[in-house]
Amino acid sequence: MQNFIFHNPTKIIFGEGEIGALDAHIPRHARVLITAGGGSIKHNGVLAQVQAALGSRQHFLFEGIEPNPAYETLMKAVALAREKNIDFLLAVGGGSVIDGTKFIAAALKFKGEPWDILSKQTPVTQAMPFGTVLTLPATGSEMNCGAVISYRARGDKLVFSSEATFPVFSILDPTVTYSLPPRQVANGVVDAFVHIVEQYLTYPVDARVQDRFAEGLLLTLTEIGPQALAEPHNYAVRANLMWTATLALNGLIGAGVPQDWATHMLGHELTALHGLDHAQTLAIVLPALLSVRRESKRDKLLQYATRVWHITEGTADERITAGIAATRAFFEKMTLPTHLSDYQIKPASIAILMAKLEEHGMSALGEREDMTLAISRQVYERAL
Ligand code: NZQ
Ligand code: ZN
Repeated sequence: MQNFIFHNPTKIIFGEGEIGALDAHIPRHARVLITAGGGSIKHNGVLAQVQAALGSRQHFLFEGIEPNPAYETLMKAVALAREKNIDFLLAVGGGSVIDGTKFIAAALKFKGEPWDILSKQTPVTQAMPFGTVLTLPATGSEMNCGAVISYRARGDKLVFSSEATFPVFSILDPTVTYSLPPRQVANGVVDAFVHIVEQYLTYPVDARVQDRFAEGLLLTLTEIGPQALAEPHNYAVRANLMWTATLALNGLIGAGVPQDWATHMLGHELTALHGLDHAQTLAIVLPALLSVRRESKRDKLLQYATRVWHITEGTADERITAGIAATRAFFEKMTLPTHLSDYQIKPASIAILMAKLEEHGMSALGEREDMTLAISRQVYERAL
C-alpha cells in the first residue's frame, strides 16, 4: 500500500426528510445565496423545502448554472454574492451546481483573475463556506473538494481541487432523485462506476481493503443500476445508489492506491468539443482505453473480471477480453451507447481532440504517467 493522508471534513446528513436539518447546520445569521441549475428544483418541490428550512435567514437565489458549468455564468453569481454581502453558499442540485458553487466560493476569496485557478492551477487557499443539497447521485462532488469548470468561449473543460472547497455539509435525501429523467439516472450510475474503476483498475499494491471496497461498490452498481431505471420510486434502490456514488469519489477507496483518471481527461475534451454528457464520454472512452491498455493493467483486469463479473472460464487473455466486454455491455444496458459513431462523431474530430489534449498538458496520463499522446490517439481511434 502507498503512503497517504486521508482527510474528509464534509458532514453527511442522509435520509428521507432531512432537508429540514438545514436549519441546524447553517449559521443563524448567515446571508445565504442558494445556487441552482435550470429549474428542476422548482418543479420537484426541493427549492420550497430548502426555503422553508432556511426560515427567517436572509437568502437570495442564483439560477441558471448549466450542466458542465460555465465560467461565464459562475462569474455572474460571484458578482451577485458580492452585491448582496453573502457569507454562506448553498448549492441545491447535481454535480454541475455543486462544482460551480465550489468555483464561486473560491473566486469570492481569490485575488486576481479566477480563471487562473483552472488554467494556471493557481492554488486556492481560502473559500467561502458552502453546503449542498444533492439532487443527482453521480459525481461525488457532495463529499469531495474537486470541481470541473468549462470556459465556453475557449472550448476548455478543466479541473481544480483544494482543501478549502470541501462542502461543510451535504444533505442526501434519496426521495429528491425520484424526479430525475432516466437519462440522468443512467449517467449517474455510469459516472460513479467509472470513478471506482479509475481508482481500482491500475496495478496491484496489495491494498486489500481498498480493492474490496471498490469491488463492493462496483457489484452494488451492477445490481442496482438497472433497477434504478426500472423502479424510479424504489427508496431502497435510490438510497443505495446515492450512498454508493458518494463513496465512489470521497477519497476513501483512492487512499493508498495508484489512480488513473485518463478516461476522465479524454472524456472532458469530448464534452468541451461536442457537448456530450459527462457520463456519455466515459461510456465511450473506458472500454476503448481498457482494451488499448490491457497489458499494463493485466493483473487488475484479471482480478476485476473474476471478482466483479464472475468470469472464471478460459485463458487469462479470454477472461480479460470478457471483462472488458461485460463493462461495455453494462453501459449499453444502462442505455449509454459506447462508440463515437453512435453520437455522430466523425474520425476527423480526433485531430482536434488531440490538439486540445496537448494544449492542456495531458501528455503523461495514467497510473504510471506513461500514457502518451500517441496512446490517447489510439484510444480515441479504438472508440470510433
Ligand atoms: O439544471 P437542473 O434544472 O437542476 O437539471 C439538471 C440537469 O439538467 C438535472 N437534474 C438534477 N437533479 C435533478 C434533475 N432533474 C430532475 N430531478 C432532479 N432531482 O440533471 C441534469 C444534469 O445535471 P448535472 O448537475 O449536470 O449532472 P451531474 O451530477 O452528472 O454533474 C455533471 C458535472 O459534474 C462534473 C462533470 O464533469 C459535469 O460537469 N464532475 C464532477 C466531479 C467532481 N466534482 O468530483 C467528478 C466527476 O467526474 C465529474 O467530472
Ligand atoms: Zn466523472
